[in-house]
Amino acid sequence: MKNIGVLTSGGDAPGMNAAIRAVTRSAIDEGMTVYGVNHGWQGLVDGDFRPLSARDVGGMIHIGGTFLGSARCAEFRQESGRAKALGNLGQHDIDGLVVIGGNGSQTGSHLLSQMGVPVVGIASTIDNDLLGTDVTIGCDTAINVTLGAIDHLRTTGSSHHRAFLVETMGRDCGYLAMMAGLAGGAEVISIPECEVSASEIAQRLHAAYERGKTHAIVVIAEGCKENTAKILAYFDADKQGVGFELRATTLGHVVRGAPPSASDRLLATRLGVDAVKALSGGEAGVLVGYQRNEVTRTPLADIAGRTKPIDADMVNLARILAK
Ligand code: F6P
Repeated sequence: MKNIGVLTSGGDAPGMNAAIRAVTRSAIDEGMTVYGVNHGWQGLVDGDFRPLSARDVGGMIHIGGTFLGSARCAEFRQESGRAKALGNLGQHDIDGLVVIGGNGSQTGSHLLSQMGVPVVGIASTIDNDLLGTDVTIGCDTAINVTLGAIDHLRTTGSSHHRAFLVETMGRDCGYLAMMAGLAGGAEVISIPECEVSASEIAQRLHAAYERGKTHAIVVIAEGCKENTAKILAYFDADKQGVGFELRATTLGHVVRGAPPSASDRLLATRLGVDAVKALSGGEAGVLVGYQRNEVTRTPLADIAGRTKPIDADMVNLARILAK
């Protein structure tokens, strides 16, 4: 394999730059030429490529986001868009592609690999909802940013005897909310996989108040049907209350743009190097992930279009520990 492309797709995640760096430098070490594809699948459809040298990927291991840019590309979902992408890869003599991204992106990887392109995916999303890996690049940092916010809210909550609703990102997956909630000692964690109703939240807050707590934290994943707005409306209608005064904070994209943690940088480095090893060894159509403390490769066919279920035991654990 002589020329490979690398792109980042979907929502950016802290550690993507570290992964591009690892892919570029290890590919150069194997004698390959590396092309960065700008703006994810869109750049592939438009033929927007740039050669990457070892120096081009310097000074960015510690920076969040992705310097190649990312996009959600409707055109690539059409067969005609993918045909254009195929043509552009051919024009540049690119014979292998590394795709750094989450669920939707790796479904795209699978589609392209079915058209005969050697594609290797690298698991990267703050949501950690991808099958074929225990952890995804970016998730650890997003948990830490969320946790930092929870810790700050707990402090101000204590000063004012307040309860805080904290809404996290995570799309339809509650992993981020659950982990940050557990680490932050939340009184209630509501996730799409196990929603807690507004009335139950009220009961649990009331009980926490009665037990003498000076603050309370309720973490709500953005994918919950009974979302922050609905819960607030419930409390508005029933001012009998729970003892605590209530405030709400939605974290949103702030959890996505942070500098990557050490753990995310190391994960990105290991997965990036292995993606190149896979391509140079003639293995493609796989997702490079990390399972049971080892870098693993899973066929894209096994993970495309599916999501990783959450560990239900953790939800019960959170409930017990909130006492
Ligand atoms: O998939 C990552 C993610 O940040 C989700 O947690 C969130 O639901 C979504 O992307 C937001 O997408 P956008 O950046 O397009 O608003």
